[in-house]
Amino acid sequence: MKHKIVVAGCGAMSNVWLDYVEKRENAEIVGLVDLYIESAKKMADRRNLQVPCFVDLSKAIKETGPNLVLDITIPASHKEIATTAMEAGCNVFGEKPMAETLEDAKAVLQVAQQTGKKYSVMQNRRYNRQIRALQQVVANNVIGKVGSIHADFFLGPHFGGFRDVMDNPLIVDMAIHTFDQARFITGADAVSVYCHEYNPAGSWYEGNSSAVCIFEMSDGSVFTYRGSWSAIGMQTSWESDWRVTGSIGSAKWDGHHFPVCEIRDSSKPIEFVDHIKSVEIEDNWNGQEGHWGCLDEMFSALEENRLAETDCTDNIKSMEMVFGAVESAKKGKKVLL
Ligand SMILES: NC(=O)c1ccc[n+]([C@@H]2O[C@H](COP(=O)([O-])OP(=O)(O)OC[C@H]3O[C@@H](n4cnc5c(N)ncnc54)[C@H](O)[C@@H]3O)[C@@H](O)[C@H]2O)c1
Repeated sequence: MKHKIVVAGCGAMSNVWLDYVEKRENAEIVGLVDLYIESAKKMADRRNLQVPCFVDLSKAIKETGPNLVLDITIPASHKEIATTAMEAGCNVFGEKPMAETLEDAKAVLQVAQQTGKKYSVMQNRRYNRQIRALQQVVANNVIGKVGSIHADFFLGPHFGGFRDVMDNPLIVDMAIHTFDQARFITGADAVSVYCHEYNPAGSWYEGNSSAVCIFEMSDGSVFTYRGSWSAIGMQTSWESDWRVTGSIGSAKWDGHHFPVCEIRDSSKPIEFVDHIKSVEIEDNWNGQEGHWGCLDEMFSALEENRLAETDCTDNIKSMEMVFGAVESAKKGKKVLL
């Protein structure tokens, strides 16, 4: 299967996607689109791409005849780009988040269902050897039935640009990753959320840079999230710092090193403090990591005519966690999802 691709959005992140496409044998860029024609032209020059540049996606599709559009525009443009592309007969792989509101994300999902086109979303943080190992610990019941899962995320990036002026930069632009990772690790979906969102002293964001959330999950477990994008010092990994507690043990992953696991030593009697033994975690995932891993999955799914792991029908559940959290913070009470 040959993929003829139009890229929409020629900003910072598009470089990662274009690096991948350059290396993929059966993929060819046929056009570049950006709101600012100079950005598209600069990208074409920098990469020596002899392709036409456009400011309008519909025109680009009409003139270059792609089967696939890569949406690497800003969150506020994702709905327009994805729906335009699918309505013009193209499949779409897009950057997270699916859209800037849940209503928009649902509208995009509806267009995917009506047109029969595939729309999958970049959730690169699922494609990591260490999170795959942690997910297997949970799936194989090594720590028993999951009771709770906890993620800490504390970083202080100075992005400039669209994130500095979003209402909910941490929750909408970043926690989508962490919430999606929690669904991936547990295999459960969220059924309710209570969120307190705030903008602490020293924050350089206009919107809320920090949040604490409690989710009830469909398997009866609880997922807690503590996060900040304006935390100075003592920073966590971008993957977050995780702890999962199960009925017979616990696993931890700091997002940098391979996860670790301890369970009750059932060969010893139960005493005031349980006897514990370490369990070696298997390391048997060999896929590519990050964006490249997710793109491998998206292309394979398209070629095998199946839904990708991060197809919009799945991703909408992570989006519901994001916008449920925003709604809960606004209302000051628990929201059912
Ligand atoms: N998955 C990740 O780890 C990760 C990391 C960083 C960014 N992102 C996501 O990637 C996306 C892009 O982020 P970025 O940092 O590259 O932003 P950016 O601002 O550097 O680039 C976005 C580009 O899209 C263009 N654009 C905006 N609306 C458009 C439209 N309607 N039509 C055509 N072009 C349009 C802009 O002019 C700009 O050139 C965002 O959704 C962001 O959340 C994901």
